Amino acid sequence: MRTKTEFDQWFKENNGDPWGYHTPFVIKRLDDSIKFIGQTVEASFKGVFVEFGSFDGSFTSRVLTNFPSAHVLAIDISEVATETNIRNNGQLTGVDFICADMLGFDYTKVPPQKEPIVLILESLYYLDVPERKVMIQNINKFLPANKVIFLSTPVSGNKYFEEDHLLAMMKECGYSCSSLSVLNSKRSFGFKALFDVLLQHIKFLRRKYANQVIFKFEKL
Ligand SMILES: C[S@@+](CC[C@H](N)C(=O)[O-])C[C@H]1O[C@@H](n2cnc3c(N)ncnc32)[C@H](O)[C@@H]1O
Repeated sequence: MRTKTEFDQWFKENNGDPWGYHTPFVIKRLDDSIKFIGQTVEASFKGVFVEFGSFDGSFTSRVLTNFPSAHVLAIDISEVATETNIRNNGQLTGVDFICADMLGFDYTKVPPQKEPIVLILESLYYLDVPERKVMIQNINKFLPANKVIFLSTPVSGNKYFEEDHLLAMMKECGYSCSSLSVLNSKRSFGFKALFDVLLQHIKFLRRKYANQVIFKFEKL
């Protein structure tokens, strides 16, 4: 799945939502992701969130609610997704909806006077492997003021990322991971609270058991 036509078709065939954004699993991931961002970004942030892969706006609305003074650019390759986001959040102020491929995004649309923060949650891995690095390099090239990228992804390898590969790619692009949070795991155990803490801190456990992880990357 890579092109606008493919995503539009896929969403149409699946009632607009192949993932189940109303399910507790997804809702918890979105809530935990916005909490993670709120740990280091002030609620009074007046800059612009550049949200790539915004889908139906389930995260866009959380950003607007948690950062009421910020502006959001909600960008998605799919027209179906963008129209759904407009239906869900079009009544809110402080948001622009843009249907565009993140790889060819026109960064002149980002208000230059506002401090940017880039969000790429659960969407970078839809790019072909060589394109992923180009995407981050494009941010550096066309949005040099950007210092922070929040990125979430499964770290289970295969078509997704592995933590080490992601960190290495980001380092090559001039970013280092300043914090991360495991959003969910492939297995659960009876001692869930302790296990969650261990996953947070121990890389080899994350490698084995973590599913989706959110990373905060800062420019070196
Ligand atoms: C799993 S959803 C992620 C939604 C939200 N960011 C989240 O964390 O739940 C992935 C979204 O990325 C979009 N997407 C995939 N490839 C893209 C691209 N090249 N440019 C922009 N959006 C893309 C898809 O259309 C889809 O809406």
